[in-house]
Amino acid sequence: MELERESTVEESPGGSPHLERTRAGGSAAGEGLRGAPEAATPAVLDLSPDRITYQKLRNDPEIIGLIRMADRYLETIGYTDHGLKHLARVSQRAFRLLLDLGLPRREAELAAVAGLLHDIGNLVHRDEHPQSSALMAFTLLKERGMEVEEIATVVGAIANHDDSIGEPVSNVSAALIIGDKSDVLRTRVRNPRMISFDIHDRVNYAAQRSQLTVEPKRHLITLSLDIDTRISQVMEYFEIFMVRMRMSRRAANFLNCDLQLIINNTQVL
Ligand SMILES: [Fe+2]
Ligand SMILES: [Fe+2]
Repeated sequence: MELERESTVEESPGGSPHLERTRAGGSAAGEGLRGAPEAATPAVLDLSPDRITYQKLRNDPEIIGLIRMADRYLETIGYTDHGLKHLARVSQRAFRLLLDLGLPRREAELAAVAGLLHDIGNLVHRDEHPQSSALMAFTLLKERGMEVEEIATVVGAIANHDDSIGEPVSNVSAALIIGDKSDVLRTRVRNPRMISFDIHDRVNYAAQRSQLTVEPKRHLITLSLDIDTRISQVMEYFEIFMVRMRMSRRAANFLNCDLQLIINNTQVL
């Protein structure tokens, strides 16, 4: 079932009960996964109202200020959008992925938190930003009173989100990898005039639609892309995204699923 029937990214992973409507009844999907099935885990109403959530962090002016500054630096050196819209999509995908696979709601919430903070270290430097993001997240979450065990889960996921040195180390980590690496989209290009010069801009600009779906019973996660081949050839996508897709497949395998890639209605992976 679809993870993205709607784009309520701003409020969804924060713990609002209406999200339960979108959970894709995958009770059997928990079998074989690295975690307890949803049925054995607390519902949202059983979770502490004081817990740190995506939404609380999303409304935190200090955190938003840091995220905006990090994205501004990336804009300065010519990178695609890594701001709040990218972070919201990543959080939403990671959150829904774990929920739809029948994993505990709190684990899905931690994936959303990791999604929000995973690129914040670009404030320090683009190189090794997963590590600087993780260390910044540790401090920010500790200051806000998150339990240390939960911080450890979030930080481990953030530090492992990049394809250069990262590996899926937990369910939250695997969900973050898939959420981040699947975010290829036209709206991430800041300056369309650059598409003739930069392959990343060109491929992102060509991606008119990007959708992540999960079929728990088939243990299958599918990324579907519509690529405008007048702008970029599918080969170009593979040129820069093959490594990311390989990492995403390892992440899907960690969740006891396979990863399938469909481009322009043709299965290519
Ligand atoms: Fe990143
Ligand atoms: Fe990212």
